[in-house]
Amino acid sequence: MSNIFRTKSIEQTIRETDEPEYQLKRKLTALDLTVFGVGVVIGAGIFTLTGRAAHELAGPSVVISFAIAALACALAALCYAEFASLVPVSGSAYTFSYASLGELIAWIIGWDLLLEMLLGASVVAQGWSAYLGVFLEKIGFTIPESVAYGSHFDLPAFLLVAVLTVLISIGIKESMRVNLALVALKVFIVLFVIFAGIQFINTDNYTPFVPPAGESTAVEGWATQPLLQLITGAAPTAFGVGGIFAAASLVFFAYIGFDVVATTAEEAANPQKDLPKGIIWSLLICTVLYIGVTLTITGMLPYDKISSDASLATAFESVGKHGYSTLISAGAVAGLTTVVMTLLIGASRVVFAMSRDWLLPPGLGKVNPKTGTPVKITIGIGILVALVAALTPIGKLEYMVNIGTLTAFLLVSLAVPVLRRRRPDLERPFKVPFSPVLPWASAAICFYLMLTLPTETWLRFIIWMALGLAVYLFYGMSHSRLAGNARDDEHGPNLSAF
Ligand code: ALA
Repeated sequence: MSNIFRTKSIEQTIRETDEPEYQLKRKLTALDLTVFGVGVVIGAGIFTLTGRAAHELAGPSVVISFAIAALACALAALCYAEFASLVPVSGSAYTFSYASLGELIAWIIGWDLLLEMLLGASVVAQGWSAYLGVFLEKIGFTIPESVAYGSHFDLPAFLLVAVLTVLISIGIKESMRVNLALVALKVFIVLFVIFAGIQFINTDNYTPFVPPAGESTAVEGWATQPLLQLITGAAPTAFGVGGIFAAASLVFFAYIGFDVVATTAEEAANPQKDLPKGIIWSLLICTVLYIGVTLTITGMLPYDKISSDASLATAFESVGKHGYSTLISAGAVAGLTTVVMTLLIGASRVVFAMSRDWLLPPGLGKVNPKTGTPVKITIGIGILVALVAALTPIGKLEYMVNIGTLTAFLLVSLAVPVLRRRRPDLERPFKVPFSPVLPWASAAICFYLMLTLPTETWLRFIIWMALGLAVYLFYGMSHSRLAGNARDDEHGPNLSAF
């Protein structure tokens, strides 16, 4: 049993990154990391979920939901920043927890992060396909219905993931360059929504700011009811104060991604200083933009008239600005591209870190000497995401992404004080202020938001975690480097056997 609590020392973790066959190229600057962060954070969340959350769950008070989600993320971001500066190694929260909470918890976090990034990339690829359909429609092309968004095989989503997989297999710096152009365009579109929308704001739309609790199409029966309501025996409702929190746990999706910055730690030129900067700046920039967009959209239309799909484009449609709407659709297509790409990179880096620890087959994680990227993993993840995006019906995956991420945030927050106690000697270039109170507060908020997620999301999540546990018990636990297999590695033969 003690195996599952074995930890990997931070020194060992860092030493392993120097093994040539697992070495990534260190090229990224603080600016690259911030761009990378903003690139993955601004996506389907603000472009589509804002409308849905306002319409179905919170009305104009969705702006408070955004603030609550931002607070949860800000606290977790500080915890991430401390870890990222301390353990500047690929794999993000998975790696941090391996050094502090033990192998089993690390595996669980890694499994959560995989859920976050695999499904996140799939959801956003589907959203991209929806926007592409709208945009092409506006310029006179129609994608055949049998392979369009919402059909049995979403071809545009599939092709997007395929192209991006090739791009990131070629090399991260190259894809960063493409990313930079697309991120600039996306930020421009978001600012455009705010500034073009201000003139259409009618302050009457802000009343009632918190619509009274009542029925909503989003909450019908126990499965879609927030777990907290089920536990307390309350009748299923939306809106009201409960609706604000339920919306917060949905729009949390819009902030996801700043943590993915930490998965590129080994590719940062100066990770100790630049990772905390990249994480905190991306979150700050996005929060300001989101609050601006939310105030604008809920001011432009009564909340029950805001569309649940393509909400930003349709809001301008409703006020007669068709050209603006076309521009926003085009911007969304470009903007969502970077999100899918960054989530694909993040997912491949988590699997990379796990395979380097031999919790997954080590041969997977070998870095291609020409490209400096883990090509096998990248292609494997790409195929998986392309299929999930093309074949899964659209709908509830966002909540799954959120529960996986919130669990990872919760565990990372708890890990900060644990590691401070266990290893007070380590140099911490960035320190969370007010520890342990702030990390505990972070964990508590994450847990509360998890409780406001639908009950069916919890059930699906439990199944996913059971699957992960089975993989660990039947493979990872015995194959782990820490299980005494490391000596074979030094002589080499085992690695090439995979
Ligand atoms: N935060 C990302 C988005 O909103 C995942 O698309």
